[in-house]
Amino acid sequence: MGPVLGIESSCDETAAAVLNGDGSVLAALVASQEARHAPFGGVVPEIAARAHLALLPDLVRRVMREAGLTFGALEAVAATVGPGLIGGLIVGSQFGQGVALAAGRRFVAVNHLEAHALTARLPGLVIEGAAFPYLLLLISGGHCQCVSVEGVGRYRRLGGTLDDAAGEAFDKVAKLLGLGWPGGPALERLAATGTPDRFRFPRPMLGRDGCDFSFSGLKTAVAQTVAGFGPGALAASDAADLAAGFQAAVRDVLADRATAAMRRFVALHPGRPGLLVVAGGVAANRTIREALEEATREEGFRLAVPPVALCTDNAVMVAWAGIERLRASLADAELPTARPRWPLECLARQDGFFPGP
Ligand code: KG4
Ligand code: ZN
Repeated sequence: MGPVLGIESSCDETAAAVLNGDGSVLAALVASQEARHAPFGGVVPEIAARAHLALLPDLVRRVMREAGLTFGALEAVAATVGPGLIGGLIVGSQFGQGVALAAGRRFVAVNHLEAHALTARLPGLVIEGAAFPYLLLLISGGHCQCVSVEGVGRYRRLGGTLDDAAGEAFDKVAKLLGLGWPGGPALERLAATGTPDRFRFPRPMLGRDGCDFSFSGLKTAVAQTVAGFGPGALAASDAADLAAGFQAAVRDVLADRATAAMRRFVALHPGRPGLLVVAGGVAANRTIREALEEATREEGFRLAVPPVALCTDNAVMVAWAGIERLRASLADAELPTARPRWPLECLARQDGFFPGP
């Protein structure tokens, strides 16, 4: 198979990458929009859509130049079509279809969640490889879910958040502590200077049946504690202890929910080797990674955490998902229409896979 150009524009990262048909990366670029959204304390959809429009043409030109290819040399163009912010999705998917049409190449519509799910299968990324089935824990700013990945287009959702995503909780608590946006990395740095057990925050869903998550109660508990200090009375050491207490609660919840998901996975796939793949920006958090390492050791699973650049939004994963779909002859299964909601289970049904209960 020839090279594939991937385009990602579902949130606030404008990204383009070119991969050889075997998955080797020829060039990969990400233009972060962080500075454009930071003054507003979060992603502003309208600004994101306009920024993708402004950034994509040059980014794609540059990535093709770095790959040393003309558009005519491509096998296909793959772009994220959903789920995500509709403005950005329209920009990226229409741009990709335009390039494919002009160059007479195929277009592959990619589901962003599927792209995260399949990243671990990039050749050489996971020692011993990531053969199906494996377990995915996706923990980002917009998504928080456990999925049994059983094949290209074959996904069984084991659980997800009932309210906030894990990264969203980090961002909201960081905001409460005056840390700016995105808050996860700043909160982790602050937590490193604090004591995790001064404030004992609730651990929502801990020990519950199933694999669902919930973070809004934890966020509210932190907000109430901050409010209890009164205006201007929160010292730097208090903020550090709050950050450490919050991070410890998220760590415990994620490790517990991942353990529940691993047990469910074993029940679904008895006798199969266990692999837990973690994706999403929160996977960058060291405390959380260490807890997941321990949880996987206890359950006899291998743990794979791809490098941060491949855990967070990027276009390598989009091009790779395109390659996987082309290889599996599933590239024509979807209509290339931008869609803000596109759960993995719907994708699975569309491809003729009915995961059952
Ligand atoms: O996957 P990602 O780059 O974007 C999407 O949300 O799709 O994830 C970003 C999220 C943000 O909520 C950010 O605060 C969080 O990941 N994050 C972290 C850390 N680095 C990024 N959360 C906790 N600790 C970190 N070190
Ligand atoms: Zn993502």
